[in-house]
Amino acid sequence: MIRFKIDENRCIQCGECANDCPAKIITMENYPKITNEEGCYRCQHCLAICPTGAVSILGRNPDESTSLAGNLPDPACLETLIKGRRSVRRYTGRDLPGTLIDELLQIAWHAPTGVNNQSVLFTVVREGKVMDKLRKEVMALLAEKKKAGGFPEDFVGQYLGAAVKGWQEENLDIIFRGAPHLIITSAPKSAPCPVQDIHIALTTFQLMAHARGVGTVWDGMFMMALAVCPELITRLGIPEDHVLGYAMVFGEPAVEYHRTVQRGPAQVNVVC
Ligand SMILES: Cc1cc2nc3c(=O)[nH]c(=O)nc-3n(C[C@H](O)[C@H](O)[C@H](O)COP(=O)(O)O)c2cc1C
Repeated sequence: MIRFKIDENRCIQCGECANDCPAKIITMENYPKITNEEGCYRCQHCLAICPTGAVSILGRNPDESTSLAGNLPDPACLETLIKGRRSVRRYTGRDLPGTLIDELLQIAWHAPTGVNNQSVLFTVVREGKVMDKLRKEVMALLAEKKKAGGFPEDFVGQYLGAAVKGWQEENLDIIFRGAPHLIITSAPKSAPCPVQDIHIALTTFQLMAHARGVGTVWDGMFMMALAVCPELITRLGIPEDHVLGYAMVFGEPAVEYHRTVQRGPAQVNVVC
């Protein structure tokens, strides 16, 4: 049931909801009407495009949406956020408020997904004490694998070997950078675009996190640990039928950056 409802007192019969519907299932019969409920992508374009807030779908009240006029970020500010985001590798170790983590997750949930499938799963460590336990477990497991000669001989083995050595000899956490929180994306293999969806969701989470003063770093080291110790995937509660996305640690930064970096020109291949 998609519960498509038109407030006839508000509808100006402009037909924009019908014109914009990607599934082309809205017709104008005086007022908009859905012809084929099963064909709906549940994208809410009809609700978003209505200039008078006359369209409700999926039980959503258009008055509870944020109005776009006057509320969009200034492009220069967004540019600074994109260019000023840095990988944070030093954390205070204090837990973030749960409400802030929830806010970031709910916003990241707005990232686009192929065919609007919305099946990305966020696996999250919300508490520093849980993270500390996981950190110890992961390092113990890696140390065990290393001792048993279970590391590959390529760069993965070298990186993980160095991480184990750093942990054992200097209490250095190269895998999680001492962060109090972790997020991992995954999506069902059966979803239309799982590989793309999981990375788009995490990128969206990251940008919003930085906008809220939360530090993050993409965690390739932990991805290597998961490749070498796949039993950890089950331990984290990630369903077996999921494509593993990527891991990212996050938390309150113990570092402040004062300016953007200056990257060289982008690589561009112009098609003629
Ligand atoms: C896919 C991916 C994996 C990464 N893995 C790690 C990692 O395991 N540990 C780490 O400290 N940084 C990691 N990084 C951060 C990169 O080293 C960093 O993005 C790069 O040096 C540029 O710095 P910046 O993010 O501050 O611009 C990773 C970044 C990406 C995109």
